[in-house]
Amino acid sequence: MATLLFPGLCRPLCLFLAFFCSLPLLGICKESESDRQALLCLKSGLSAPAGALTSWSNVSMEFCNWHGITCGVMSPRRVIALDLESQGISGSIRPCIANLTWLARLQLSNNSFGGGVPSELGLLSRLTNLNLSMNTLEGTIPPQLSACSQLQVLGLWKNSLSGEIPASLSQCKRLQEINLGKNKLQGSIPPAFGNLPELRILDLASNTLTGNIPPSLGSFRYLTYVDLGINALGGVIPESLSNSSSLQVLRLMSNSLTGELPKALLNTLSLGAICLTQNNFVGSIPSVTVISSPLKHLYLGENHLSGRIPSSLGNLSSLLHLRLADNHLVGSIPESLGYIPTLEILTLSTNNLSGPVPPSIFNMSSLKSLGAFDNSLVGILPIDVGYTLHNIKDLILSGNNFDGPIPASLLKAYHLRWLDLNNNRFIGFIPFFGSLPNLVHLDLASNELEADDWGFVSSLSNCSRLNMLALDGNNLNGKLPSSIGNLSDSLDSLWLNSNQIFGPIPPEIGNLKSLSILYMDYNFFTGNIPPTIGKLHNLINLSFAQNMLSGQIPDTVGNLVQMRLLELDHNSLSGRIPASIARCTQLTKLNLSYNSLDGLLPG
Ligand SMILES: *[C@@H]1O[C@H](CO)[C@@H](O)[C@H](O)[C@H]1NC(C)=O
Ligand SMILES: *[C@@H]1O[C@H](CO)[C@@H](O)[C@H](O)[C@H]1NC(C)=O
Ligand SMILES: *[C@@H]1O[C@H](CO)[C@@H](O)[C@H](O)[C@H]1NC(C)=O
Ligand SMILES: *[C@@H]1O[C@H](CO)[C@@H](O)[C@H](O)[C@H]1NC(C)=O
Ligand SMILES: *[C@@H]1O[C@H](CO)[C@@H](O)[C@H](O)[C@H]1NC(C)=O
Ligand SMILES: *[C@@H]1O[C@H](CO)[C@@H](O)[C@H](O)[C@H]1NC(C)=O
Ligand SMILES: *[C@@H]1O[C@H](CO)[C@@H](O)[C@H](O)[C@H]1NC(C)=O
Ligand SMILES: *[C@@H]1O[C@H](CO)[C@@H](O)[C@H](O)[C@H]1NC(C)=O
Ligand SMILES: *[C@@H]1O[C@H](CO)[C@@H](O)[C@H](O)[C@H]1NC(C)=O
Ligand SMILES: *[C@@H]1O[C@H](CO)[C@@H](O)[C@H](O)[C@H]1NC(C)=O
Ligand SMILES: *[C@@H]1O[C@H](CO)[C@@H](O)[C@H](O)[C@H]1NC(C)=O
Ligand SMILES: *[C@@H]1O[C@H](CO)[C@@H](O)[C@H](O)[C@H]1NC(C)=O
Repeated sequence: MATLLFPGLCRPLCLFLAFFCSLPLLGICKESESDRQALLCLKSGLSAPAGALTSWSNVSMEFCNWHGITCGVMSPRRVIALDLESQGISGSIRPCIANLTWLARLQLSNNSFGGGVPSELGLLSRLTNLNLSMNTLEGTIPPQLSACSQLQVLGLWKNSLSGEIPASLSQCKRLQEINLGKNKLQGSIPPAFGNLPELRILDLASNTLTGNIPPSLGSFRYLTYVDLGINALGGVIPESLSNSSSLQVLRLMSNSLTGELPKALLNTLSLGAICLTQNNFVGSIPSVTVISSPLKHLYLGENHLSGRIPSSLGNLSSLLHLRLADNHLVGSIPESLGYIPTLEILTLSTNNLSGPVPPSIFNMSSLKSLGAFDNSLVGILPIDVGYTLHNIKDLILSGNNFDGPIPASLLKAYHLRWLDLNNNRFIGFIPFFGSLPNLVHLDLASNELEADDWGFVSSLSNCSRLNMLALDGNNLNGKLPSSIGNLSDSLDSLWLNSNQIFGPIPPEIGNLKSLSILYMDYNFFTGNIPPTIGKLHNLINLSFAQNMLSGQIPDTVGNLVQMRLLELDHNSLSGRIPASIARCTQLTKLNLSYNSLDGLLPG
């Protein structure tokens, strides 16, 4: 840094002046003194509770030693860089900063600078690097910045800047990085940005920009990173951008882009990440013709893409994440996807995919997450799926027509965290999932599963992170074991409704302290409602409706003060409705019909 600037003309003079300037109060170094005064003036607009500016003192002449200051090796010594990143400074940037005429780098990011971006920054003709990102700056971006002819990096992201992006910025011909993301900028992207010959990074994400993506952007020779996501851009992806030879990251998510995906998009030899999620793209996914693609992340979800998934996607041999969910894709899942050696995340959910899942997909040892819910997939899960998918964390196959048993091999998929098989036609006994310590979410609802001797419940008590257990809408019969009370302390919701469970409700249910959702309706439970229910202080929804419960409603329900829904209808409950129910002030839905109760309902 210290060698950055050395005006060649004045070497002997500089040595001479450097000597004198090191002697304070000689008063011959006017330019130097003006830097010192400018810094003191700047400080007067700021507050730095953590002491970042303590060394900036009027009694000290040695401003080159002040915290955050770098001076160039010239005489008289001049400030060439101001680095005050992450110093907890607040206040506004005063125009006197413009008197630091040798300033090349101004790095004030991640503080609490407020007010406007002073237009006087445009007077800093040597400025190469301006970073005011992560502050609370307001107002517009001053068009005068265009006078900074040496500017290479412009960072203003994460502020509250509004108004349009000044097209005049395109006069800063040396710009390499423009980051204006996370502001409130409006209007369109200046097409003149296409005239910036050295631009590498363009990040305008998370604003409210409108209009089209200027085709001129594709003419940048060095462009490597474009993020225009989370705006209100319309129109199509310019063909010129999709076949750029340098672009490595293209992020256009959450806009209103339309049209078909450019044919060249998946065939560049540079793109490593394409994120087009949440737009209105139509037509089919273009095929892959290149043999060796660097593409690692392909996100096309939440669009209107149709047609089949091209089997040539299987030639994207570097893919880590492939997300195609929420489209109108049809046909079967191509076998070739299963041969991508590195694929970790595959999401195909909410499409119209049909047929069996190719065995190659259930054989991907790299796969961590497979989401294919809400399609029309059929067939059985391979008997050894827990061994072949041995890295799987999330397996989400709900809302299809899978049948056959749940393979016992899944109990060997040690990393399994989220298993969702609901709404299929799985048959047989519920396996003992206790060997899966990471299991958080187990949803087997709406299948044709049975309970054998209910041993799976005590096994599940091993899953100490279990948060959600849904077994509703199956063929579970027999008595609910008391070991239900040994399920995880963190269990938040338990769905046992719509089965054929009989016998009493085990009082141990009161041990499940974290429960907020408990559905046991539409079974054949008999006996009393256990008073221990009153221990479930977090309950919000509770239904014991449509059973054969008798006796009184326990007083303890009055302890369930967060409860919003209480359904006890269609049982044989009798006696008085406990007055304590009046304490459940959050109740919005209470159904006690079809019982033999008397007394008053809470007002
Ligand atoms: C610095 O001190 C001089 C004289 O002591 C005073 O005139 C001047 O206003 C001071 N400047 C600042 C910025 O405090
Ligand atoms: C921002 O500054 C705070 C301290 O003020 C620090 O903890 C945090 O890591 C900084 N963040 C970045 C991205 O530099
Ligand atoms: C720059 O310094 C001069 C005096 O040296 C002063 O008159 C002028 O107001 C300063 N400029 C700014 C923008 O503060
Ligand atoms: C600005 O500084 C922040 C760190 O405080 C950094 O994350 C960012 O990349 C820098 N550059 C730009 C252009 O914002
Ligand atoms: C890229 O697209 C432009 C505009 O459509 C076209 O002229 C050019 O030939 C394409 N280049 C490549 C390498 O495909
Ligand atoms: C992958 O590329 C090879 C070589 O070009 C080709 O023979 C094969 O058909 C491609 N695979 C798919 C699924 O398109
Ligand atoms: C899925 O396919 C069925 C007919 O096979 C059709 O009725 C339905 O509209 C399709 N759904 C979507 C989202 O494309
Ligand atoms: C599964 O993968 C193994 C090697 O990883 C391979 O030998 C086997 O043929 C594959 N099976 C299927 C059905 O693709
Ligand atoms: C419960 O976990 C222990 C070790 O954590 C294991 O040895 C045991 O077999 C597990 N129980 C069941 C029923 O899977
Ligand atoms: C449930 O836990 C209690 C106390 O921790 C223990 O005594 C009992 O044996 C457990 N019951 C079952 C069925 O695991
Ligand atoms: C709880 O009950 C309310 C009706 O009171 C319902 O809107 C909500 O969906 C229920 N929550 C769950 C998770 O079932
Ligand atoms: C209460 O439950 C009965 C059936 O058990 C049902 O007919 C009635 O509509 C329910 N009332 C309310 C308000 O939901």
